[in-house]
Amino acid sequence: MTKISGHTKIVGIIGDPVQHSRSPQMHNAAIAERKLDYIYVPFHVRSGELREAIEGFKALNVLGVNVTIPHKRAVMSILDDASREATLIGAANTLIFCDGKVYGDNTDAQGFLQAMAEEGIDVPVGGSAVVLGAGGAARAVVVALALSGLNLITIANRTEWKANQLEKELAPTSETAISVVDLASSQLNAAIHSADLLVNTTSVGMKDTDQLLIDLDSLSPDTTVYEIVYTSPETPLLRIAREKGCQTIGGIGMLVHQGAIAFEKWIGIVPNVETMRIALEQALYPKEL
Ligand SMILES: NC(=O)c1ccc[n+]([C@@H]2O[C@H](COP(=O)([O-])OP(=O)(O)OC[C@H]3O[C@@H](n4cnc5c(N)ncnc54)[C@H](OP(=O)(O)O)[C@@H]3O)[C@@H](O)[C@H]2O)c1
Repeated sequence: MTKISGHTKIVGIIGDPVQHSRSPQMHNAAIAERKLDYIYVPFHVRSGELREAIEGFKALNVLGVNVTIPHKRAVMSILDDASREATLIGAANTLIFCDGKVYGDNTDAQGFLQAMAEEGIDVPVGGSAVVLGAGGAARAVVVALALSGLNLITIANRTEWKANQLEKELAPTSETAISVVDLASSQLNAAIHSADLLVNTTSVGMKDTDQLLIDLDSLSPDTTVYEIVYTSPETPLLRIAREKGCQTIGGIGMLVHQGAIAFEKWIGIVPNVETMRIALEQALYPKEL
């Protein structure tokens, strides 16, 4: 436990709810290992109080905060400035306070790519990906892939207008073709069959009892399956993909890397990602360890 004094600098996370977040364990483990005089604190901030909370952080010299549901998009209108990625994604997951101003960034896209690289899997430049979902995380994943030079991204979401909106916003910003298909369509099966990468960004898989969102009959062993849900080490989607012989990537790597990038932006020191991963696994999967 960090020894707190008047010199201790504060970083943290805002959300509603925020009690479930495991980011405090992950960041505080990295802080403790480096013997830094910092502490990472969860702050419960309700939607109607976001602006006041940001003003409060400025006044209290808080260094920076992560942003989680439901504030990632809403916070954009309060920022003094934002990174290119946050602007493209339309959401910030990391805020930095400096000289009375607040700067917004989004480390989810980089975290997604770094976790893939860590597994030794290349982004399929010139190839194709299928992205399931069109929520906040999907926006970061589609931006990450579009900026990496894919030829085609196919998006399928339960609420189709949200996928269409995502396509409309992002298509003009990149050379990657983006198409939207119905979740239950044969076009989706064909897109999955020929995809180099299939990414689940929906919250389906958070519970062991969740039904699979799609028919995986057309999934080829040559497709890499990336699951960003991290509530269990192997979701039903990942299990089936592994049994079919696909390379698989779980969600914990993205969570670790988006956090590590934010840590470095606030503190100026590269944290030990292995320490962060172990702290997260202990917090998320106590029974499996
Ligand atoms: N690994 C990481 O670092 C990381 C980072 C961010 C998020 N995540 C995880 O990614 C997941 C999504 O987060 P988010 O921020 O994108 O949430 P969000 O903005 O609320 O989006 C949720 C998405 O899931 C879909 N969905 C939810 N329930 C569904 C169901 N029963 N059937 C079909 N589709 C369903 C939604 O479809 P509709 O549009 O039809 O509602 C939407 O596309 C969560 O599990 C979150 O923990 C992981």
